[in-house]
Amino acid sequence: MTQRRKLIAGNWKMNGLAAQLEDVSAIDALARGRGDIDVVLFVPATLIAPAAARAKHAAIGAQDVHQAESGAFTGNLSAAMLVEAGAKGTIVGHSERRQYQQETSADVAAKAVRAHAHGLSVVLCVGETLDTREQGDDVAHAFVSDQLVASLPEGADAAWLTIAYEPVWAIGTGKVASPSQVEAMHAALRATLVKTLGDANGNAMRILYGGSVSGDNAAELLHTANVDGALVGGASLTAAKFGPIVEAA
Ligand code: 13P
Repeated sequence: MTQRRKLIAGNWKMNGLAAQLEDVSAIDALARGRGDIDVVLFVPATLIAPAAARAKHAAIGAQDVHQAESGAFTGNLSAAMLVEAGAKGTIVGHSERRQYQQETSADVAAKAVRAHAHGLSVVLCVGETLDTREQGDDVAHAFVSDQLVASLPEGADAAWLTIAYEPVWAIGTGKVASPSQVEAMHAALRATLVKTLGDANGNAMRILYGGSVSGDNAAELLHTANVDGALVGGASLTAAKFGPIVEAA
């Protein structure tokens, strides 16, 4: 069986001012004690540089990147800008961007290619809405597998790409997917990765779970087959809440 190193990632979304840099330092201290796992914080772009200056053990990442190298894209940030600010990675395809910015899976794949070209690692998000889940598990598995295949970048490689399964209905709702739902979805995504990328690459790629992960449910989720870490929103904003999740990995 492939040994995959666990990754615990925090996504601060549109939260965090300079005052919250104290939490970056505190979370970095948590990461220092866990040399056996990876810890990443995806902070707002305005905090990347100061957070990167503080973090020595946790990596700092961005929440999105534009697919173009540079140009007339008012308000967007390029991969080169994120790297210069100190980012080591980026999220692409978060459901909030797919929903509110109308990002397509083709956009997501292009963003991942650009990010990787600049040396950023990438966490690529996929997940189904409640509407799809209510049509049954098989429908949900097929939907998310198709979304994954459509979002996979050219040259996708486990060395720099991680997948995050985030059921939209579990994000910020306190409604966490059950371990059996997570296990079945991750098994479907693993099979899709192996089929699409081949045995070695498909088995080496990490698949994170995200959606209302907390200190209360992290241990069970993180010990589920094919769950190689977590992408945490609300509970990543303070070291007090994030600590038990890092601990559980
Ligand atoms: P919550 O942990 O707040 O549900 O958010 C999950 C998420 O969207 C992480 O990217």
